[in-house]
Amino acid sequence: MLKSKKMKSNKLIKLPGLVDVHVHLREPGATQKENFETGTRAAVAGGYTQILDMPNNVPPTVTPWSLDDKIKLTKGRIWCDLGFNFGATGNSTQYFTKIAKRVFGLKVYMNQTTGPLLIEKLKERELIFKSWQSPLPIMVHAQGVTVEVAIKLAQKYRKSIHVCHVTTDQMKSIEKAKKEGLKITSEVCPHHLFLNKEDVKRLGPLGIMKPPLLSKRDSCQLWENLDKIDMIATDHAPHTLTEKYDQVSPKFGVPGLETSLPLMLQAVACGRLTIERLIEMTTTNPRRIFKLPAQPKTFILIDFSKTYKISNKKLFTKCDWTPFAGLEGRGEIKKVVIRGKTVFQDGKFVGKPTGKVIYPN
Ligand code: DOR
Ligand code: ZN
Ligand code: ZN
Repeated sequence: MLKSKKMKSNKLIKLPGLVDVHVHLREPGATQKENFETGTRAAVAGGYTQILDMPNNVPPTVTPWSLDDKIKLTKGRIWCDLGFNFGATGNSTQYFTKIAKRVFGLKVYMNQTTGPLLIEKLKERELIFKSWQSPLPIMVHAQGVTVEVAIKLAQKYRKSIHVCHVTTDQMKSIEKAKKEGLKITSEVCPHHLFLNKEDVKRLGPLGIMKPPLLSKRDSCQLWENLDKIDMIATDHAPHTLTEKYDQVSPKFGVPGLETSLPLMLQAVACGRLTIERLIEMTTTNPRRIFKLPAQPKTFILIDFSKTYKISNKKLFTKCDWTPFAGLEGRGEIKKVVIRGKTVFQDGKFVGKPTGKVIYPN
């Protein structure tokens, strides 16, 4: 457990805008769940000012022109800064050098999840790891022991990797690889910290995602290992309620942009981590590891004294539900300022969207 000072609970605090390298904004292809406007509103309402979108759309972001399409669609519609991750397939390797300066990470899906990007053949995986020439990380969706395969490939081809949504069973392999000199980083999702498989009984399909929720013991172990994890990422993965409650194939994934900060601030108040460590995990580290541009005159103001029950009301995500409803959150966002302009104040958006599409430094 990290040692931490308890925060005084009666003050207005100023934090840098939060950064999330792992969100699914669903546009194009699934705008019934989310779109660039609703998704970036959810981000800002949650204190995020810089986010990276994942490529598992239908069609997936695996060609330069699919990336162009996404960029065009954002025009005049994004409330925070937005960058993109590129999707890896055997075929998309031919574009790696072309798109390298326009994306932050390469996403490789090594296990089945939402979208058409599963890469299972070793030959294809080898080709992908070999072909990525950028110093930016290969982001792996590798559940459980699959992470070992990702680590071996990264060692073989001397690439940096970022392990998405870590679970306890992966911590030892990651530590070992780090000791052996591999450039390896990881992220943890609030749902794996604040929920466990007991909650699935209550939440039903609203509690399913990949990787799945594990035991209470596992989430405790994640908290105990927090100092070994580089960042918090929400894996904001909205689906409509109809899709979640589908009898035949309920969708995997939960929204998270609006609930991550209140949950983590409550953890700060309980002494589970320090506010300094939270800033490191939500701004400094993701920005450094993914070479995200600095955001001058950008900050959020929070009333740290406010606590409340997280609810399905007043959400900006288009899917309009949260698996965290009923949990205690802390910190009312009074203001979000991006490049000197107030874009969100007392629960309302101000003016026009001023977000920019961003590229690696
Ligand atoms: O639960 C998940 N949902 N895990 C993923 O890896 C993908 C995500 C989605 O896009 O719905
Ligand atoms: Zn994933
Ligand atoms: Zn994801």
